[in-house]
Parts: sequence; structure tokens; C-alpha cells
Amino acid sequence: MDPKPEAVSKITAPLILDRKLRGERIVCLTACDFPTARLVDQANIDILLVGDSLAQVALGYDSTVPVTLDEMLHHLRAVRRAVSRALLVVDLPYGTYHGSEEEAVHAGIRSLKDGAEAVKIEGGRKRAALIRRMIDAEIPVMGHIGLTPQSVHSLGGYRVQGKTIESASELIADAQAVEDAGAFAIVLEGIPRELAAVITARLRIPTIGIGAGPDCDGQILVLYDLLGLSTQPPAKFVRRYAQVAQTMSDAIARYRDDVLAGAYPSDGESYHQSAGLREQQEKWAAVRSLKGE
Ligand code: KIV
Repeated sequence: MDPKPEAVSKITAPLILDRKLRGERIVCLTACDFPTARLVDQANIDILLVGDSLAQVALGYDSTVPVTLDEMLHHLRAVRRAVSRALLVVDLPYGTYHGSEEEAVHAGIRSLKDGAEAVKIEGGRKRAALIRRMIDAEIPVMGHIGLTPQSVHSLGGYRVQGKTIESASELIADAQAVEDAGAFAIVLEGIPRELAAVITARLRIPTIGIGAGPDCDGQILVLYDLLGLSTQPPAKFVRRYAQVAQTMSDAIARYRDDVLAGAYPSDGESYHQSAGLREQQEKWAAVRSLKGE
């Protein structure tokens, strides 16, 4: 049977909630530029996240911490121009919701004005009040718990979370708090498969896993990881579906060699004057040589 999802004209946050009720898996990917976002949307991916992982994969920062709201919105606007079907979610970057709630809601509103249909924020119980505020301001929210990259410094590195009974129960409480606050979905990142399965069974809202095993309601990957275009070594959970960096390097090297050898551009890749103009130029050249010019 063809496993492709049925054609739906537009994915919305309520529709994502419905998917869980109907037991249908949710497919999500990140994208941060116009051409790749277009491909993602055309492939019927349900949620397209302009993730702050773009800090590393597209902007060359060494973590997601430095990326600014202006940088995120610049990418969001490019992606918005490419996407018509997927639900478009943007990450609120580090620093935009760690101070006052006013500031956070303002960042959420700017994101929606620039085309996002929801925002994602990292953290569990400590973000519950903020999630409520966002929802009061008509900003749909996706939660994100477990290995939350914006907390890399306080977590002491990129480590799988929830490996002890205590930390697992903390994460279960966090997931419940995010649901109770009104988020429409929650990302579970870098946690044991068994814990993700427990959280998925307890929540009404869909869980979207990344490094959280196959029992989540949906999955997400960073597009450049899936394509083999990211520069860092892939995490255990990344499946490379292509080696695009290799394909690009080969193409660039062949172009370089062709230019050096004078093999690019060919005559067929050049523009030409019309036959009439060529004839006229030849006549003028002949006249000039007769005159000895
Ligand atoms: O920034 C990101 O790409 C994410 C992941 C969940 C994929 O937050």
C-alpha cells in the first residue's frame, strides 16, 4: 500500500492534535531557506520548523545560543514564501523568552506577523505560565523538553536526559505541564525510547521525537542532517538519506577543473550574434583592410 499521507490542503495546529486521536503519524522537518523549504512542503511534510539549529547548520555558530530573533525571522520570511501546505513553526531563540513575559509575547507576535503559525519554546514546568500567556495572545505553542539545546551550558553538554528514575519523573511532569498549559504538541529530544513511550501514552497532545525512539506520535530531523549537508558528525539517531555535501563538492570541483581547462563555457553555452550582423561586420572588416586601416 502507498504509505503517502492523504492530500490535505493546509495543515493547522488543531489538525495536528486530531492526528493523534486518529492514530496517524506526524512527519516534521526543519528548513531554513526558500529552495529546501519548497521541497519539504512539496513532499507533504506536516510540520516545517524553522529551527534554531539553523544557527549551526546554516550560520556556522557553534551552538544555538548566539542566534538572534532578527536572524530567525530573516530565515522564517524566506521559508514562508516557499510554504503553502505545512504548518509553519518557528523556534523562539535563546534570550527571547528568558526575561519578561512581555518581551516573550512580543517575540511571538513578531514571529506570527512574519508568517509563522506557531512558535516552539524549550522547557517544561518553568515555561507553563508563559505558554498560557502566549495562548492568550493567540500564539499557538509547541513545547520542547529533554535535551534542550538552548540549555547546553546549564546541562553541561549535549547529553541524553531522563536516564535516572528521578530525572525521568521530572520529564513526565514537564510534559504534563506543557500539555496542561495548552501546547498543541511537544518535541521530545534526546531521551530514552522507553521514557518517550510512557510520555506519549500519557499525553493527549502529540509527541514529536528526535533521538527519542520510534514510539512517539511523530518524528522530526534537521533537514541538513538527513541530506548529509551538515558539517558536524551526525548524532546516533540521525539517518542520512543522502550525501548532498559530497554531491556538491564533486560538482564544484568539476566546474573548477572545466574553467581551468577552458572547457567551460562551451560554444553551446555562449550567446551568439545574428548571422546578419556577423555578415555586416565581416564586410566592414574587409572594407577597412582595403583602405589599409
Ligand atoms: O532547532 C531545531 O532544529 C530543533 C529540533 C527539534 C529539530 O529544535
